[in-house]
Amino acid sequence: MIDIRPATGSDAPRLAQLSGVLGYPVSSDAMGQRLQRVLARAEDMIFVADTPAAGIVGWIHGAERDTLESDLRCEILGLVVDPERRNQGVGRRLVTAIEAWAAARGLEEVAVRSNITRVESHPFYERMGYARVKTSHIYRKPVSKRGPDARRSG
Ligand SMILES: CC(C)(COP(=O)(O)OP(=O)(O)OC[C@H]1O[C@@H](n2cnc3c(N)ncnc32)[C@H](O)[C@@H]1OP(=O)(O)O)[C@@H](O)C(=O)NCCC(=O)NCCS
Repeated sequence: MIDIRPATGSDAPRLAQLSGVLGYPVSSDAMGQRLQRVLARAEDMIFVADTPAAGIVGWIHGAERDTLESDLRCEILGLVVDPERRNQGVGRRLVTAIEAWAAARGLEEVAVRSNITRVESHPFYERMGYARVKTSHIYRKPVSKRGPDARRSG
């Protein structure tokens, strides 16, 4: 029996473990701080899949996106299921929960960016009714308050 419920602050250690599975290792403390920030925002929702025997076996983070280029929509920002519990419908239940949350907020679309290396997620999302609409490159650049000159001078 799997219970899909909103995450709470005390879920941080297990969410951190599963974040490591996703390829984003993080300490329980740091995850606790992230959770605190995210849970405080009404535009964000985290659901966990909780089981009596194994505890949390998956989580999903969805958020309302407000941009100039599109209408309000929900974006899935993170999703992971414990490797030992895959292909048992957990991912489906988590995505369905976020879709229901988005619809209840009046949002008409859910979007997700999926790394091309996450090969198992592509047939999964297609099976869930998602259409692939484009492929992007992700660019990043570190910035700091001190600026590049200050960084160069030490
Ligand atoms: C992608 C992921 C969340 C899927 O979770 P899951 O619990 O195994 O998926 P489900 O069992 O709910 O599968 C739902 C449907 O997708 C299909 N599906 C899932 N994985 C699949 C795969 N690798 N190949 C083909 N179909 C797949 C299932 O057959 C099922 O179809 P059905 O309900 O019509 O029978 C899980 O594999 C995972 O955590 N992967 C690593 C992290 C990741 O890629 N996250 C997504 C980041 S955007």
